[in-house]
Amino acid sequence: MSLSVSLLVALLGPCLALDNGLARTPPMGWLTWERFRCNMDCVNDPDNCISENLMKAMADRLADGWLRRARIQVGDRGPWKGVRISLVRCWGTKTRKINSYLYVIVDDCWLNSTRDAEGRLQPDKDRFPGGMAALGDYIHGRGLLYGIYEDIGSETCAGYPGLQGHFQLDAQTFAEWGADYLKIDGCNERRADLPEDHAAFGAELAALERPIVYSCEWPFYELGPHNYTAIAATCNLWRNTHDVQDHWESVVSIARLYSLLEAEQFQFAGPGGWFDPDMLIIGDFGLTLAQSRVQMALWAIWAAPLIMSNDLRAISAEAAAILQNADVIAVDQDELGVMGRLKVQQGDDAQLWARPVLPRAGDATSCAVAAVNYGDSATELSFTPALAGCAEAAGGYRVRELYSGADGGLVQPGDTITASLPPTDALIYTLTAQ
Ligand code: GLA
Repeated sequence: MSLSVSLLVALLGPCLALDNGLARTPPMGWLTWERFRCNMDCVNDPDNCISENLMKAMADRLADGWLRRARIQVGDRGPWKGVRISLVRCWGTKTRKINSYLYVIVDDCWLNSTRDAEGRLQPDKDRFPGGMAALGDYIHGRGLLYGIYEDIGSETCAGYPGLQGHFQLDAQTFAEWGADYLKIDGCNERRADLPEDHAAFGAELAALERPIVYSCEWPFYELGPHNYTAIAATCNLWRNTHDVQDHWESVVSIARLYSLLEAEQFQFAGPGGWFDPDMLIIGDFGLTLAQSRVQMALWAIWAAPLIMSNDLRAISAEAAAILQNADVIAVDQDELGVMGRLKVQQGDDAQLWARPVLPRAGDATSCAVAAVNYGDSATELSFTPALAGCAEAAGGYRVRELYSGADGGLVQPGDTITASLPPTDALIYTLTAQ
C-alpha cells in the first residue's frame, strides 16, 4: 500500500469501508465454481461446461423463477402492505424491501490461454462464441447483474492469463464488457505484493465510470496477520477461508474458523465491506436439508455474501425454499450491517450467534439469533434476549422462528427461550423490539 493510501486509512479510522456506493448489503448471486469447476468439455458435457450457454441457463432460472418467487413470498405477507420494493419496478406496493440473487458470476476457466494481439483479455472462443460483452447484455436483459473472475497475479489458479502488468487495460475491458462484479483471486502472486497490487487494481476500478463490486481473496492468500483496515478500504468483500467443498465437514470447518476469528473480525464488516466465507452449497449433493439450514443461518447471521454455486435447473424444491426464505435473507441483508457474534459455545457442538437488526423501537434494536447444532445428537440450547444483546425495548420482544414461521410470543429481556435442535440442524429467530 502506498504512503498516501496508508495515511488516508489511518486518518479515517479503523472501520472505513470502501466507499464506492456498492455492496451496502452483502451481494447475492450465483457463481460457477463449486458446482461446475473447470469443466471445459462442451463436446461430451455440453450442459455443464463453463460456457455462455451455462451462464445464460442460470440467468434464465434466476430471472424466471427466483426473483418472482421472492416477490410473491414477501408480498403475500400482510404486515408489509404499503412498503415499496426497491428491486423490481413492477412489483407494486405490497412488498417490503428485499434483495435477491442478482449477480451471475463466471469463475475460472472462461479465458483463452493467451491475450489478443492488442494485449487484451479474451474468452475461449468455442465456449463463449458471442463474446463477453454480449453475455453481459444477455444477463442485464434478464434484469440481473454480471460478474467475472480474474486473478491479481500472473495467472489464474487454473493457469489462464492473470491481471499482473495489465491492471488499467483489464479494468477498462471489464467495464466495456458491462461487468458489475469482479471476483479477484490471488494465485501466482507474491504474498508481499498482495496489499499493493489489490490497492492498485482497486484504484483502476475507482477511475472507471462503471461501478464494479470488488471481491478479493487477499486475506486467504496472506498468512497473516491481516490488515483488515486496509483490506476493507480496498475491497467490497474479502475471502479469508479455504475453498468451500460440497460436504458438511467443509461447512463445519469454516464455522470453526469463524468461531475463532469472530472477535477480531466483526468490527471490520459493515455496509460496503463484508467477510466472505465462500459459496452456498445448498442444493448440491453434500448437505442434508438440516445441514443446509445450518449453512444458511450462519451465513445470514454473519452478514455474508449469499453467492450460491449449485445447479438451478435441478435443485429440489426444499433446498430452493431454504435459499429463498425471505425472512432469513432479510437477516442477512439487514441494513445495520452488523456481523453476528458468537454468544454461547455449549460443549463442542452447540453454538448461539446473534446480531442486532432493524427495526428499532425507540433506541432499542431488534436481534437475530442463530442456534446451531454441529453434533450427531439432538440437543437443547437456552438463551435470553439479553444474552443475545436485546435488553432495551420497553415493550419486550416478539419472537419468531424463521424456518418454521412459528410465533414464539412476547418475551422480556430476562425470559428464557429454548431451542430444540435435531442433529446437524439450526434454528434462526428474530426478536423484534416492541
Ligand atoms: C481458487 C479460489 C476458488 C476458485 C478457484 C478457481 O481456489 O479460491 O474460489 O475461484 O481458485 O481456479
